[in-house]
Amino acid sequence: MTPAPAPNGARSAGPCAMVMFGVTGDLARKKLLPAIYDLANRGLLPASFSLVGFGRREWSDDRFAEEVLKHVQAGSRTRFDPQIWEQLAGGLRFVSASGFEDDDAFAQLGETLAELDETRGTGGNHAFYLSIPPNSFETVCQKLDAHGLARRQQHPKDPWSRVIIEKPFGHDEASAHELNHAIERVFASDDVFRIDHYLGKETVQNLVALRFANRLFEPLWNNQHVDHVQITMAENFGIDGRASYYDGVGAARDVIQNHLLQLLALTAMEEPIRFDADHLRREKEKVLEAVQVPEDIEAASARGQYSSGEQHGEQVVGFLDEEGFDPHSTTETFAAFKLGIHTRRWAGVPFYLRTGKRLARRVTEIAVVFKKAPNLLFTESDDDRFGQNALIIRIQPNEGATLRLTSKVPGTTMDVRDVDMDFSYGRSFTEESPEAYERLILDVLLGEPPLFPRHREVELSWRICDPFIQHWESESAQPEPYAPGSWGPDSAHELLARDGREWRIPG
Ligand code: BG6
Repeated sequence: MTPAPAPNGARSAGPCAMVMFGVTGDLARKKLLPAIYDLANRGLLPASFSLVGFGRREWSDDRFAEEVLKHVQAGSRTRFDPQIWEQLAGGLRFVSASGFEDDDAFAQLGETLAELDETRGTGGNHAFYLSIPPNSFETVCQKLDAHGLARRQQHPKDPWSRVIIEKPFGHDEASAHELNHAIERVFASDDVFRIDHYLGKETVQNLVALRFANRLFEPLWNNQHVDHVQITMAENFGIDGRASYYDGVGAARDVIQNHLLQLLALTAMEEPIRFDADHLRREKEKVLEAVQVPEDIEAASARGQYSSGEQHGEQVVGFLDEEGFDPHSTTETFAAFKLGIHTRRWAGVPFYLRTGKRLARRVTEIAVVFKKAPNLLFTESDDDRFGQNALIIRIQPNEGATLRLTSKVPGTTMDVRDVDMDFSYGRSFTEESPEAYERLILDVLLGEPPLFPRHREVELSWRICDPFIQHWESESAQPEPYAPGSWGPDSAHELLARDGREWRIPG
């Protein structure tokens, strides 16, 4: 049977096949395969949609289908519908390879795609998802090119070939530049989709709506009124078996270089002329280009490593005792930066970014903290924390926004105190938010690039992070330990205290 029709207003993808490299990896199992099924179930994939797994296993197509089904049933968000599954399963193929150098396997991939074009009507449109270590990106792109599978469109009606890559995009500016060059030698730059899954999140997109669809905030969104901005991404769990990826990467490269700098760019950018890829990316790039790294990096940063201790009533091991880690590793699990933005709008407003594993809560938020109102009237309320309005955009969990206002305390005296005014997605909308990967995969198939960073953004983000990382590496000191379940090392608190400020405790 054909999938359900696309819901009102949603665009569904045209005929195509996706090839997934790294289909047995964690990301594919937990996120990508369920997202593909959910898209099919929501009626957003064409009946002809086909998925080819490329990997080292000696699997038949049927065996591959069993695997996909297992992960779809474990991870999909929509109700399982056997008829939709049957339709999808009819387009599942597996190509066994001895590795990414295996020319026979790439030849076989070419034959499989031709067969799918013929039997399922995938129209010669192919998306290659590289859910693999970045040091293999170049090899795979070259092989796709050599086997005639990475075709550049000469005309918009020609079949398309797109490539999707996952971070890390390099480990510093120079390596990112090289990597971009290697990929764009094969694929046209508009056909390269770099996934930053934060941009697929509903609340991150809402940041643009909140800023530019309202009249209220824009006049205040500048250094006349904003005191500072705090961007926090905290996680209350540790490395979770990802030692091989995380060691030598650390919190700054893993999260600040991509997710947090994208949040900073969306918070600080000017209004794009249109919500299309070119204009949106241009505005983000201008902000990233204007970011100033303070000269005294030591004073403008903090880093830490979680130690052993108790969290959620359980004894947890410290980072250095996690399985697979060098017990002397200097990889940080907490990082905080203070940055400035050298524009007329933001001069003098610090942006504080922090991220860490094994912190008190799992929360991502942007807090725009306004300057204090002059207190001429309410002198009896001597709490100097009142009167500092803030807009807190909650990316997750409990998606929504809070406006912190000062209000009169009920009673006979003219006493005032801060209160919260709350908007929550869950209470305000009945519509369900799609998973970030659903949105992003659909956008790739539709060829809509606004939510994917361009190579220049990636390189500019490295240019911001590199001085911090190089400074830490030159020190060869151990990052400062912090207790699990805390809000990070003392140096993170000192970073704000030096400016007479403090981190918000996300509520
Ligand atoms: C990934 C990082 O990009 O984002 C992980 O590599 C992190 O270390 C994850 O745990 C967090 O994503 P989310 O969507 O759960 O906030």
